[in-house]
Amino acid sequence: MATTMAMAMAAVSMVASRLSTTTTTPTPTPTRGLGLFKPLSSSSSCRHRNSATKILRASSVATDSETNYYLNQNQAAKNHNQLQLLACPICHDLLISNSADPLFSLDATPMSILNCSTCKKTYTGNQTHLDLTLTTTNYTQLNPPSSELFRLPLVSFLYERGWRQAFSIWGGFPGPEKEFEMMKDYLKPAIGGSIIDASCATGLFSRLFAKSGLFSLVVALDFSEAMLKQCYDYIKQDENISQENLVLVRADIARLPFASSSIDAVHAGAALHCWPSPSAGVAEISRILRPGGVFVATTYVVDGPYSFIPFLSPLRQNIGQISGSHIYLSDGELKDLCSTCGLVDYTCVRNRRFVMISARKPN
Ligand SMILES: C[S@@+](CC[C@H](N)C(=O)[O-])C[C@H]1O[C@@H](n2cnc3c(N)ncnc32)[C@H](O)[C@@H]1O
Repeated sequence: MATTMAMAMAAVSMVASRLSTTTTTPTPTPTRGLGLFKPLSSSSSCRHRNSATKILRASSVATDSETNYYLNQNQAAKNHNQLQLLACPICHDLLISNSADPLFSLDATPMSILNCSTCKKTYTGNQTHLDLTLTTTNYTQLNPPSSELFRLPLVSFLYERGWRQAFSIWGGFPGPEKEFEMMKDYLKPAIGGSIIDASCATGLFSRLFAKSGLFSLVVALDFSEAMLKQCYDYIKQDENISQENLVLVRADIARLPFASSSIDAVHAGAALHCWPSPSAGVAEISRILRPGGVFVATTYVVDGPYSFIPFLSPLRQNIGQISGSHIYLSDGELKDLCSTCGLVDYTCVRNRRFVMISARKPN
């Protein structure tokens, strides 16, 4: 909490200067609307174009009902692939959709109804996101302050208006664009596949992932409804982001609504220290990654000159108990966290307190 508060205070001073300016992110040439679950590369776009041409040719000789049949078959196949990913957060059995609409499209989210045939439970989408948490309007669970803080609409409003920028001043975070460049190498094995931006907040990385055209599916996931609402608004304002193959999901990192071994990459920016149980979160990430799938995360490590602070270790215990946030005292702790959760090939890059780590699921 102390670190979260320190970041918050630094953020407030940045906010005043930022409020009058608009946050902008560089806009790489977008690659839009190409094949689902295929690399968005030139070769895949050729493949996709071929199949689109086939449908067009078919439509020139076929009747309207035949054309509709082809289109429905195509959509049904896509939906089938998508449904191999989403799982009930209770039992992890695959979810079933009654709708023929594309599941992973921002505009289809409000119509989405997903059922678990084992738990006999229904999960629905609202205007902005699919809610796959174990909460209802009548039952909500109180999380530690480090999680609850981010559910405040004010915090989601301030997040890209100074709050996140303060991480650079306080902790040496290079900033979203540079962090994205840094992680690209780690993400190479996942190119063309699915990526989850876990604890995406307002979606600053989800938008970069979507714009990059490197992934066939981007899931922006967070526990905070307010963050997801702000994330949705930013996406809607940016015409360079394709709203196909992009979906916003509300979920708890410790109970991820995805099938085991189904996802190619998970990114968690500046979030490990906010999760109520980092080991429960990383274990879930390890479960959903396919063999060879990649985990990339950033957080901060309080070492170097800070190691001389007396009683730092018991102190962080107390801070953790009160705030629910986690302070890492060495990057070795992060390495242990990954290996405890079954991930291998740990690497890390440091810049002052900032650390970017990567690990992968064994083949
Ligand atoms: C500091 S923000 C990080 C945002 C962003 N990824 C970035 O790099 O700036 C931490 C995020 O973790 C989310 N979070 C906290 N507890 C969570 C949980 N149990 N499950 C999923 N996300 C959680 C918060 O809602 C918040 O949006």
